[in-house]
Amino acid sequence: MGAAPADLLHRSVNTWGLVYDAARMLRRLADRHGDPFVLPTLDESYVVTGDPRHVAAIFSADPDVMDPPSGVVEPLLGDETVVLARGARHRRKRKLLAPPLHGARMKAYGDVIAEAARGAFRGVAPGEAFEVLPRTQRLSLDVIVRAIFGLTDPGAIERFQSSVSEVIDRFPAWLMFSPWLHRPMGGVGPWDRYQRSTRRLLDQLREEIARARSASEGRDDILALLLSARDEDGAPLPEPELLDELRTLVIAGHETTATTLGWALYRLHQNPTVLGRLRDELGPLGRTPEPSALSALPYLGAVCDETLRLQPIVPIMARRVARDWTLDGHVIAAGTMICPAVMLTHFDPRLYPSPSEFRPERFLSWRPSPGEFYPYGGGARRCLGAAMAGYELKVALGSVLAAYRFDGVPGPAIASVMNGVTTRPARPIRLVACTSTPG
Ligand code: HEM
Repeated sequence: MGAAPADLLHRSVNTWGLVYDAARMLRRLADRHGDPFVLPTLDESYVVTGDPRHVAAIFSADPDVMDPPSGVVEPLLGDETVVLARGARHRRKRKLLAPPLHGARMKAYGDVIAEAARGAFRGVAPGEAFEVLPRTQRLSLDVIVRAIFGLTDPGAIERFQSSVSEVIDRFPAWLMFSPWLHRPMGGVGPWDRYQRSTRRLLDQLREEIARARSASEGRDDILALLLSARDEDGAPLPEPELLDELRTLVIAGHETTATTLGWALYRLHQNPTVLGRLRDELGPLGRTPEPSALSALPYLGAVCDETLRLQPIVPIMARRVARDWTLDGHVIAAGTMICPAVMLTHFDPRLYPSPSEFRPERFLSWRPSPGEFYPYGGGARRCLGAAMAGYELKVALGSVLAAYRFDGVPGPAIASVMNGVTTRPARPIRLVACTSTPG
């Protein structure tokens, strides 16, 4: 008696710490218990590590030992999504999905990204304070919808944007983690509303697939490439799989990039010296720089990396060990969740001196290993959109800063909090326009 409430309290405190202050709580536990350590949460107990050697061992382990974590994202991404696939099926899916997302292909979208970036911040009056994330979200949805479906008609893009945003808004973390609410309630409950939005998005995806099938000539968007992709047996992606992969790409590729861009703008406007150095680098390229020139700028790249280090969108990776597996002499039992904690590694002062400071310079003279810097995860499940995201971040951030000038808004520092499996700013990020942004 008494043990259960104490255990529940302990798990609640850990879960709360993970949601609201992951970096500090994980560091405290690693200092107290060593690395790796066990973290009991309300969900289950995780084995957590931030040690680059352990992280590298997890990422380079036999992929058949490292299963995906759980199905909480299934209602959002579908049961056919690559994110939840295992073993040979996962490898087959990645092989089909990787070529259209290859870095070299993304260059074709440079002008789309630059124009979407300038457009998203157009029309802000001088002196006007505005929220940054709704604008970066519009930007990244614009890019992803054009890149995946080759859409150019503003009305069609708008319709897509509205249904994708609605699906994301109607599946917040509290609904994701409350499976008992995943049932109809006379058409008026949160699950009914979410299901209606999902049906609307899936109908639109089916329409786009039909459109791409009927007029494939001359198309080189991601959907067209996926339709022509064949696996080793010459088979195309079956339609239910294609549908789930498309919604995975739209959802995984949108919020992540939008939030990172928002953080980059926030951090830069809190750090005038860094912003000044970046502006010096951008200056010679003029107000509408070429995307290829932007993607080659070293300091701009370092600013994006430093943003991803300090504000990782997925702060803790997760793998479920399929069979007993040994990590540095510790036997990890089959079924255990093992978690490389980005928030531990990225804030380790031995790797990153003064880890809480925004210092892009650290990435200019140092190339971290995959176990030292992993905002896109690693190994066989590493982010499939990493090349696209890295390119988009540089081109979008460079284009916005070259075209406009903003000031930061004074106030207490904005923390990052968990929202489902990703993080978001605890309060709105706001900036003020210095001069009129061309309308
Ligand atoms: C700043 C932007 C982004 C960040 C920080 C990010 C981060 C991540 C992370 C941490 C993972 C899990 C990796 C792991 O468990 O090891 C992941 C998986 C994934 N991401 Fe991204 N991502 C971003 C943008 C994108 C984009 C633009 C796309 C596609 C258009 C995309 C598609 C995917 C897919 C399909 C997976 C699942 C891979 C698999 O399970 O095999 N992501 N991403």
